[in-house]
Amino acid sequence: MLATVALLRARNARTILDLGTGLGRHAVALAGEGFEVAAVDASPSGIEEARRVARAAGVDAEFAVCSFVDLPFGPSRFDYVLAWNVIYHGDRTSVRRAIGEIDRVLVPGGIYQGTMLSRRHADLEVASEISPGTYVQPGEDERSHPHFYCDARELLELHPGFEPLELRDRDQGDGDRVVNEWHWEFVLEKAAR
Ligand SMILES: C[S@@+](CC[C@H](N)C(=O)[O-])C[C@H]1O[C@@H](n2cnc3c(N)ncnc32)[C@H](O)[C@@H]1O
Repeated sequence: MLATVALLRARNARTILDLGTGLGRHAVALAGEGFEVAAVDASPSGIEEARRVARAAGVDAEFAVCSFVDLPFGPSRFDYVLAWNVIYHGDRTSVRRAIGEIDRVLVPGGIYQGTMLSRRHADLEVASEISPGTYVQPGEDERSHPHFYCDARELLELHPGFEPLELRDRDQGDGDRVVNEWHWEFVLEKAAR
């Protein structure tokens, strides 16, 4: 994510949304870089902790609890949206809605950086498909733990209003150890319509 900061500065990006901020690690780092940051997550305790981390770091950010399928922001509000390891928590329908929301809140020409689960991921050796592209792990609840996986073609199909600047499938596992936790990591540019 920090490698993208140079691109954001070159684009004169100012406003940032960290979608699914978790404990706020990216939001706090980006606020520390001088950007105007909003950070949201579905987890109230996550947001509470992220607020605490931001206070301790001495940076300002706006925090809110909400779902990625219904963002409390007007259109074209952000120059950059980051959703790192977030929007694949759900099925294809919720992934589509999340991407629609990201598209809506981004300015034309804005940057979306994110990740999606890859069909190369080791999970799929044991998971059960409950709807197209959507799987649960053995013993997990279908309603609370569905995850969506895709290949590169589908990933691009899911983002019709975007052009890829970077796209790679990376094993996010443990340092140099191969654990086959493959994720698509991408930087996309919204069409400047
Ligand atoms: C793997 S964590 C990633 C956190 C953060 N982006 C990071 O990289 O440190 C996934 C986050 O997505 C959030 N999340 C899951 N479903 C969500 C939803 N429907 N709307 C908003 N956030 C959601 C979880 O609460 C969790 O904080």
